[in-house]
Amino acid sequence: MKVSFAKPEIPAQGALVLGVLEGAQLSPLGREVDTQTGDALTRAIAAYPRFKGEAGQSLSLAAPHGLTASRVLLIGLGKADGLSASGLESFGASVQSTLNHTGDSEGVVVIEAALLGGFNLGEAAARVALGARLRSYRFDKYHTTQKDDEKPQLATLTVAVEDPAAAEAAYAPLRALAKGVFLTRDLVSEPANVLYPESFAAQCEDLKKLGIEVEVLGEKEMRKLGMGALLGVAQGSAREPKLVVLSYHGGKKGDQPVAFIGKGVCFDSGGISIKPAANMEDMKWDMGGAGVVAGLFKALAGRKAKVNAVGLMGLVENMPSGTAQRPGDVVTSMSGQTIEVINTDAEGRLVLADVLHYCNDRFKPRQMIDLATLTGAIIIALGTEHAGVFSNDDALAEGLAKAGKATGEKVWRLPLGDAYDKQINSDIADMRNSTGREGGSITAAQFLKRFVGETPWAHIDIAGVTWSKKDAGIVPKGGTGFGVRLLDAYVAETFEEAGK
Ligand code: BES
Ligand code: MN
Ligand code: ZN
Repeated sequence: MKVSFAKPEIPAQGALVLGVLEGAQLSPLGREVDTQTGDALTRAIAAYPRFKGEAGQSLSLAAPHGLTASRVLLIGLGKADGLSASGLESFGASVQSTLNHTGDSEGVVVIEAALLGGFNLGEAAARVALGARLRSYRFDKYHTTQKDDEKPQLATLTVAVEDPAAAEAAYAPLRALAKGVFLTRDLVSEPANVLYPESFAAQCEDLKKLGIEVEVLGEKEMRKLGMGALLGVAQGSAREPKLVVLSYHGGKKGDQPVAFIGKGVCFDSGGISIKPAANMEDMKWDMGGAGVVAGLFKALAGRKAKVNAVGLMGLVENMPSGTAQRPGDVVTSMSGQTIEVINTDAEGRLVLADVLHYCNDRFKPRQMIDLATLTGAIIIALGTEHAGVFSNDDALAEGLAKAGKATGEKVWRLPLGDAYDKQINSDIADMRNSTGREGGSITAAQFLKRFVGETPWAHIDIAGVTWSKKDAGIVPKGGTGFGVRLLDAYVAETFEEAGK
């Protein structure tokens, strides 16, 4: 689907989409269309008493008399004083999904100042465009026999607004953001026979085109560095592990970078502590954290963010085999700390232990934020509504919460503490990688904390939010890209505003 901006006019073909505020009051252009169609709009609204203009509601009039357009679609915007960037994105998503259902190939959605209650017009149009764009995502490269009505119909969407140039300017960074989200969704959607450490790293090399430095360490380099924890996970797999390091220099020379670290388990079978067969296919997206790092850097570089950032992805495959690590094995991490591997399925923390330590050691980052589909327990605690956040720094945790509220990618902080830390002590090594089920997401975070030193750090457990089983607003079913918009907003607010 192609999105563009133009001046408002009633289109001669395709669908005309108008926003309607709560109370089902027509906009100025809506009243004009009403007149041209012999009051078809007001009559349709009267004939549909449940249509009140609430966010997400829609009313479709096919082929109204007096117009050559295929239809007029009214979509609820909710209350004018409650309009937000994410509300407008949801509106854009409704426009896109409704027009895809009707089968229209082109649509014009008109955004009028009278509907916005003071919200900036160009910014509003750009947010509507972003929402439509994000909802239009599909991963259908492996379908070979799709029927016409299963394919997306909507080919072009025009966002009509008084000052299209201002809307275009507001949309430029959001277009880059959408590209980042799409990269993440592509990566998590790929099956593990296609996306494995080496092919994932090869895809990262594409980011060089945007001015990002890309460095790829292989097994030999990691062995030299002493990354025994990461390599222990990888040793059961025929695929060589990779550590990808992205560096983006958009900030002041000499400014310490902010670091993003992603768990990139390209397939998590559980290893010798093998998982049950049911839903094991989901573990192709156990590289979701690394997928967010790749997508985030695509977005930051694409919009020329004024920040210095490094992104590290620990890419491995967790497989059972004759060379796989065994429960009870003791491995030595790069930090020198030893780990008793109680459960080979608690592999994400082993990978991150070495990547976090390496990142801290090499880059001395001002902050480290890791993302990982780390625990099933976070899904039990928070479901699919919030990602879990753990942090040793209140300002960092609050910054993430704020970005979460602004973008709709919500996070919820959970506690850390000495009593939890004690639970990961081992009888024969410095720590164990797994304890009982109680507080499983917390003990996992506590494990990571032993590898971050004094650096302000946050861990985001995205196991519940990386994949969606249903279409929802700007997120179509499948890989969500959760984390890219959150961290893009966090970076903008924390490091770019006023040149911080
Ligand atoms: N990748 C899984 C966590 C996961 C589960 C992500 C479901 C997405 C959906 C992780 O590596 C794992 O297996 N965790 C174990 C830890 C346990 C063995 C301590 C878990 O959550 O059961
Ligand atoms: Mn696992
Ligand atoms: Zn895993």
